[in-house]
Amino acid sequence: MGSTIDTNESLRPEFFNEYWQRSHLCGSIREDMIGKEICVNGWVRRRRDLGGIIFIELWDYTGPVQIVFNPEAGAVHDRAGDLRSEYCISARGRVTKRPEGTDNFSLATGFIEIVASDFLLLSPSNPLPFEIGEGTDKVDENLRLTYRYLDLRRERMQNNLRTRGKLYSFTRNYFDANSFVEIETPVLTKATPEGARDYLVPSRVNAGEFYALPQSPQLFKQILMVSGFDRYYQIVKCFRDEDLRADRQPEFTQIDIEMSYVVEDDVMRLIEGYMKGLFKVILDVDLETPFFRMDYWDAMDTYGSDKPDLRFPTKLVNLAPVFENGSFEPFRKTLEGGGVVRALPVAGGAALSRKELTDIEERAKKMGAAGLAAFQIKDGELKGPLAKFMNTDEQAKLKEIAGINDGDALFVLAHPSRLKACNILGTLRLELCKRDESPDNRWRFLWVVRFPLFEWDEEEKRWGAVHHPFTSPVLEQLPQMETNPGSVAARAYDIVLNGSEIGGGSIRIHDPQVQAKAFACLGIKPEEARERFGFFLDALSYGTPPHGGLAIGVDRLAMFLCDGQSIRDVMAFPKTQKAQCLLAGAPSAVEDKRLDELKIKCVPAED
Ligand code: AMO
Repeated sequence: MGSTIDTNESLRPEFFNEYWQRSHLCGSIREDMIGKEICVNGWVRRRRDLGGIIFIELWDYTGPVQIVFNPEAGAVHDRAGDLRSEYCISARGRVTKRPEGTDNFSLATGFIEIVASDFLLLSPSNPLPFEIGEGTDKVDENLRLTYRYLDLRRERMQNNLRTRGKLYSFTRNYFDANSFVEIETPVLTKATPEGARDYLVPSRVNAGEFYALPQSPQLFKQILMVSGFDRYYQIVKCFRDEDLRADRQPEFTQIDIEMSYVVEDDVMRLIEGYMKGLFKVILDVDLETPFFRMDYWDAMDTYGSDKPDLRFPTKLVNLAPVFENGSFEPFRKTLEGGGVVRALPVAGGAALSRKELTDIEERAKKMGAAGLAAFQIKDGELKGPLAKFMNTDEQAKLKEIAGINDGDALFVLAHPSRLKACNILGTLRLELCKRDESPDNRWRFLWVVRFPLFEWDEEEKRWGAVHHPFTSPVLEQLPQMETNPGSVAARAYDIVLNGSEIGGGSIRIHDPQVQAKAFACLGIKPEEARERFGFFLDALSYGTPPHGGLAIGVDRLAMFLCDGQSIRDVMAFPKTQKAQCLLAGAPSAVEDKRLDELKIKCVPAED
């Protein structure tokens, strides 16, 4: 655009400071400034030409302000006609009251405008790949991630990342005030098992050897307890090569803490205080503490999930008392064989059509059910394919135990596995039941405690750690570790918010002999344990204080605070479902020369 201004001259520090550097932020200008000459810097978001007058909306992170170029401004007005979306400018002018009837009540700056006397184009913009504004959410996410810098210019993303920043500063204040010390642990390190694959980094100076990026700082934070730091925290990046979902990223952030000389209650109380303070500061919400605590198996039996969403009031029911001596043989047999008969009541479910019932059964089958028996109560009568196999007493008992009335439905599942049955019905619960939307039901925190220590891995035919291998069993069950590993409960706790696990931790094993036993249960041979964790076992044998801790998933927590749909909404530069950074184009091939230095040869990827 033809400029009458010498931009280089204008950008000279003395001149820029004097004349073109903003005196005010765009969104901060109010009626009490009417009459003042000011200068604002920002991006042109919208331009309208109305009867010779040019209006632009100028944005910075504080929001928009309207700038008016009147024809009387001559050359300045003419140049303004060339301004396009996202041109970065500096504008000077006088704050004036908007003419009668043109106030914009939805904007804090909606009662004033700046009548421009001059402006400087600081930087033009290429035509945009998408418009920046409220509709940007609907733009294809891959396009937004490719041009993330533009996506981040919009108000929502600005607010999200600024809220996340506030979370960090609250976190540091809180833990500092509670005598914690922030310590960094290595990023180039050895594998820490947290149940995912490691990202590996080849070492050039130790050719053929690899570092692992930490899945968490678990071993280092425990070692810091051996070293006497007593209370550690870190806001830390963790890396996990796992299948991605809306609440998972390959690199994510934890608030990682560890404390010496504590039991479960100490850690939980500390975190409750943290959440209470955080929600007050960021959302002005008063959380009630202590949070509700529930044993893992209670959560599974009642809600069909180890991270129950308590905003849904519906509870699963155990129908063993109806069917264990009942006339319906297949269910009786399942119970005799050690299986379960569980059910999901659905209020208003009598209105579901036959087709809908079939679809729901298909869903259950896809999740591993052999079938799903539906009952509906219509005009006081229990209906459904199995109703005719039950006598009146059994029908009455079923209604009573399930707490169902006229107009409701009940989905009954018989399954050899209690866990599987709970999981299937738990998933259907979230899909079919109604959420209680009342305002005091908005934030439903709970602790899920006493997880099993081990779970059986059918594919690998061995026990795996439910939390991680460094979690202590409940002390009175220590002897069961060898005789019946599946029955041992862990001193582990997860913090759950609205059905999402936002953090988890445990009291650790601090005795090297118990740790060796845990490895043995997990099928890790002593030589392998030495090879993988020798340094850690050695550290444990030098007077280790009893200790425990927890890690909070910052991305998930921030997603709640920002009312986001995915953790990508609260990360500046997230990766796609295929773990790619579309902005930078990572991962990418590297030159052969670099691979030669690392003594690495690539084989062609299979399709
Ligand atoms: P855990 O594996 O449960 O525990 O992780 C703690 C929390 O981190 C978050 N999280 C994730 N967030 C985004 N993307 C991911 N891929 C991802 N994986 C986990 C979750 C989770 O609750 N070392 C232990 C903690 C401890 O025992 O102190 C650990 O990492 O919100």
